[in-house]
Amino acid sequence: MNAVALPTADQEFKLSTADFERIRQLIYQRAGISLHAGKQAMVYSRLSRRLRETGRPSFTDYLQWLEQANGPAGEAEWQEFVNCLTTNLTAFFREDHHFHALVDDLRARAAVNHGRPLRIWCNAASTGEEPYSLAMAVVETLGASAQVKLVCSDIDTKVLATAQRGVYGADARGLSPERLKRHFLRGTAANAGFVRVKPELARLTEFRAFNLMNASWAALGDPFDIVFCRNVMIYFDNPTQRQVLERMHRAMAPGGLLYVGHSENFTDARDLFRLRGKTIYERV
Ligand SMILES: C[S@@+](CC[C@H](N)C(=O)[O-])C[C@H]1O[C@@H](n2cnc3c(N)ncnc32)[C@H](O)[C@@H]1O
Repeated sequence: MNAVALPTADQEFKLSTADFERIRQLIYQRAGISLHAGKQAMVYSRLSRRLRETGRPSFTDYLQWLEQANGPAGEAEWQEFVNCLTTNLTAFFREDHHFHALVDDLRARAAVNHGRPLRIWCNAASTGEEPYSLAMAVVETLGASAQVKLVCSDIDTKVLATAQRGVYGADARGLSPERLKRHFLRGTAANAGFVRVKPELARLTEFRAFNLMNASWAALGDPFDIVFCRNVMIYFDNPTQRQVLERMHRAMAPGGLLYVGHSENFTDARDLFRLRGKTIYERV
């Protein structure tokens, strides 16, 4: 148990226990993220930058200001607050067994889909490595003119902007030399050392901000055949996970597949999803 946040000599601001508890409540209400006690150092390092940028003298002052903020400027600051507190770790072809399963699944679906576009949702898209890995798997399996729509979303607007740009270091983790050559354009001169996704990948993807706590899932459109929801539900508590799974169930076509992260387990929700493979569930 640890509730007391002690400022060290080199800390510019004091993060009191009351401030930390308030931040925990606010991020839970906004994003469903359960921050554990003991995450003070992380919160301090992520949010102190925002205090500096906004000229707020203390966490208490910043939080009061945030809670009173309204209108477009208020919404923009709430978004900054959320962006600061999300964890965006990702990589190309992370948990690569999923991509082998996906290739089989894409082939099977394309064979019976009679030209109807396949709908895939990648809903914790982060900086784009996961959605473009999906797009690469699609192009490699079904060709560049595949009838596939990849809806890519995240709550964090900053990482989404990076995802949409589609520019990465040429040494990005998880990209083989063959894939680099096939799916990316190499930067030259000032852009040397960087690569950009080819238009044939970009055309499959559509990026949009979406909070999984949002009530208006109907706006997502037709049911999805495949959903990648990986390494995000680990930040949610059990009631929140259940709520998201119920909405996910409604947003997916029967027989649709849900791919989840390596430490996520939803076998308790077998009324909604049944286990089909290693961390792959079928929508009941
Ligand atoms: C650890 S990253 C996982 C990225 C990728 N899915 C992967 O597995 O490599 C978690 C992502 O979930 C997003 N996230 C957190 N809370 C969210 C919410 N309520 N709605 C949508 N996305 C959320 C974060 O912004 C972050 O980009």
